[in-house]
Amino acid sequence: MSQMSHRKDFLVFGSPLIEKAEIVEVVASLRSGWIGTGPKVHRFEEMFRDFSGSRYALAVNSCTAALPLSMLVLGLHPGDEVIVPAMTFAATANAVIHAGGRPILADCRRDTVNIDPEDVERRITKRTRAIIPFHFAGRPCEMDAICDIARRHKLHIVEDCAHAIEAEFQWKKVGSFGALGCFSFYVTKNIVTGEGGMVVTNRGEYANKIKMLALHGMSQDAWKRYSDEGFKHYQVVYAGFKYNMTDLQASLGIHQLPRIERYWRKRERIWHAYDRAFRDLPVFLPAAVSEGTKHARHLYTLLLDTDKLRIGRAQFLERMTQSNIGVGVHYIALHLHPYYRKTFGYKPGDFPNAEWISQRTVSLPLSPKLGHEDVGDVIDAIDCILRRVRK
Ligand SMILES: Cc1ncc(COP(=O)(O)O)c(C=O)c1O
Repeated sequence: MSQMSHRKDFLVFGSPLIEKAEIVEVVASLRSGWIGTGPKVHRFEEMFRDFSGSRYALAVNSCTAALPLSMLVLGLHPGDEVIVPAMTFAATANAVIHAGGRPILADCRRDTVNIDPEDVERRITKRTRAIIPFHFAGRPCEMDAICDIARRHKLHIVEDCAHAIEAEFQWKKVGSFGALGCFSFYVTKNIVTGEGGMVVTNRGEYANKIKMLALHGMSQDAWKRYSDEGFKHYQVVYAGFKYNMTDLQASLGIHQLPRIERYWRKRERIWHAYDRAFRDLPVFLPAAVSEGTKHARHLYTLLLDTDKLRIGRAQFLERMTQSNIGVGVHYIALHLHPYYRKTFGYKPGDFPNAEWISQRTVSLPLSPKLGHEDVGDVIDAIDCILRRVRK
């Protein structure tokens, strides 16, 4: 271990806080035998629907499932284009491909890391059908500008809210600005179900179709088929998928969701502690939160001011790991990955802001599970590393 760290155990990046109620609930599901999709999934959907303010909430087994289902119900045709951020996780763009469309990348803003509405507008063609704004790190995108573009060009909006369960723009919850909103409850997310996701929408026909597509394209879900209401035959009405959430997953969700505000406050306190601790170091801090918005505080990302450092990002990550602090990189922009380069001809230099961020970004632990000492250890490690290598 490095002489820089006095920390004995490794601080895992994005470790979830699982409390007793979830454990008891999972065991109760196991005892009941309802380990597939059942009443708890239904309850979690109702709870999330009320939380989101949308008319419908459909639980699925990941946000990676939620996104292509949302694209499919929009009825893309081969060659239809959907504008997605270059600075996002692969699942955002892959959703378009799996629904038969072509993802068109747009650059982000350097300050907010969110998709740049001006670049979105530049990339609209006759084939553009939709935009997928992604609320990076939990910071809401400029939804007024994006909705305005969508309205003028008659485009759908599907929001990628994987980081942004609590986020609001002009005090309206994200996920409800466009046709559909997609959420994640993956292990590192703001609330967790292990794997899990949710689609919200205000349109009944989208909700019905997503429910069926998520379970083989069948007209009745398994829970209803085998319930005591009497045997019911199903009909296959679409070539569907197996994307349903299970009661074991929902057992976590129904206890995590009521704690969402408490967890958010805890992460906000850690966020402010980081802001105070790093302001004199050679880094760019996350931009201030815009008026009228709620930041979901999902990821605290530092941008290394590499011009003022004698080491690069790779060495910094290495030193953090040696100091027993887990870190993340969100993200290496999509146009730099082999698949998108090979398939769509993207190349380095195409999205300068996303690339600039890709080279400098480091995400720090920001879980409600972190204790006072953990936060102190993260701060000490960064302070110690950066003071030694500043030019
Ligand atoms: C921006 C973004 N979209 C989608 C996903 C996919 O979420 P899931 O892990 O629930 O499939 C992630 C996951 O990290 C993400 O960061």
